[in-house]
Amino acid sequence: MVPSANENPRVAVLGLGYVGCVTAACLAGTGHMVCGADRDEHKVSSVLRGVAPFYEPGLEELVRDNAAAGLLTATTSTTDAIRDADVALICVGTPSERNGNLGLDQLRRVTEDIAAASRGRTRPLVVAVRSTVFPGTCEQVVMPVFAGIDSIRVVANPEFLREGVAVRDFKEAALVVVGGDDPDARERVASLYRSVPTKPCLVALRTAEMIKYACNAFHAVKISFANEIGALAELLGVVPEEVMETLCTDDKLNTSGAYLKPGFAFGGSCLPKDLRALRYRAARLDLKLPMLESVLSANEEHLHRATQAVLDLGSSRIGIVGLAFKENTDDLRESPVVTMLEHLIGKGRDLRVFDPHIQMEKIYGSNRDYILNAIPHIGRLLTGNFDELAAWADHLVVTQRPSADLAAKIHGSKKPVLDVARGLN
Ligand SMILES: NC(=O)c1ccc[n+]([C@@H]2O[C@H](COP(=O)([O-])OP(=O)(O)OC[C@H]3O[C@@H](n4cnc5c(N)ncnc54)[C@H](O)[C@@H]3O)[C@@H](O)[C@H]2O)c1
Repeated sequence: MVPSANENPRVAVLGLGYVGCVTAACLAGTGHMVCGADRDEHKVSSVLRGVAPFYEPGLEELVRDNAAAGLLTATTSTTDAIRDADVALICVGTPSERNGNLGLDQLRRVTEDIAAASRGRTRPLVVAVRSTVFPGTCEQVVMPVFAGIDSIRVVANPEFLREGVAVRDFKEAALVVVGGDDPDARERVASLYRSVPTKPCLVALRTAEMIKYACNAFHAVKISFANEIGALAELLGVVPEEVMETLCTDDKLNTSGAYLKPGFAFGGSCLPKDLRALRYRAARLDLKLPMLESVLSANEEHLHRATQAVLDLGSSRIGIVGLAFKENTDDLRESPVVTMLEHLIGKGRDLRVFDPHIQMEKIYGSNRDYILNAIPHIGRLLTGNFDELAAWADHLVVTQRPSADLAAKIHGSKKPVLDVARGLN
């Protein structure tokens, strides 16, 4: 029988390691019937005795109480674990291989075990991959194993807990993500976390897989950033903690969603200049800061990708929308668009440029001098009228986030658009 909407789904947790055992015990703690499975007999017998198989604050009590209440049980048999389950959470290990790739042996094995136990199954089963897997793994590795088993749906439900505070991280999860194409399957897995005061993010399957990597990469980058700034501060006689704590008091631009939207390369009069100065001064101090040193080359590489995408349009007439390094300014210093245009000119592309804030008849002073004297080859491509640009161009390339008015005009032009700023949506 499939449980009704207000009934808790029955859960199988496959793999009773750090993630699986915490997940199993916490779900049992919120009233779910949970059966954990592991090939490691020690972990299984430990849970059956009501003892946590490893140390994690708060886990011992949860395993003890829920095993005693009959909500949490365990087995070495995947078949037994999934027999009465509505949801199977895959929590097996995905360790690094020697070459850095993700090892999927445990995932393949457990998936095959589920498939073998599900031939002829009629009771619906949602298989949720909680292990960390690279985007595409569910589609390429997991789903093919279930081909022909109509009762099984697959979603990705990555885990974000931190060892040492894992039980608390489950109960007060910062992020709950369920990804998949089947809305009912996604909802069913999201409903497991009803007791968690965090609204689940229901996303595409590959998005859910990717978010886990994005989060971990972001954490690692933040740690290295703080450590490099701290190391430089210390050598300069500045207190590292005071610098980073002050940085974190700005939750508008620093610890916020600002600057976290994929878009065009950065430029302007400050970021490149200040990164160069940091790099130079650190080198003078014999201090290696590999992450901060690599930021400018990461930016150049991003610009190169955008330039290549424009070159890939072919040799048609290309209308560039945006010349300054970002929207709402006429400052051309270190605009990455200028670098891109120079490359495109060098490759013989036919270009015209429109920027709502750079009109030759209106600008004056250093900006006008800069165009006339430093970049006359780009100045002569400028047109003051978007409609003229659109009428002339075969392709539009958008390099800044346009205003709502300009975005409407770009859409209205019906010209093919390459939005390297990702600012049109
Ligand atoms: N540990 C963490 O802090 C953490 C946090 C978030 C995500 N993750 C991810 O979660 C996954 C699990 O991590 P973990 O630390 O819990 O790993 P783990 O090695 O502690 O546990 C994996 C468990 O799976 C069992 N297992 C392997 N194959 C099995 C099979 N065929 N059938 C039944 N059981 C099987 C193993 O015996 C082991 O007990 C990994 O993908 C990891 O990257 C880990």
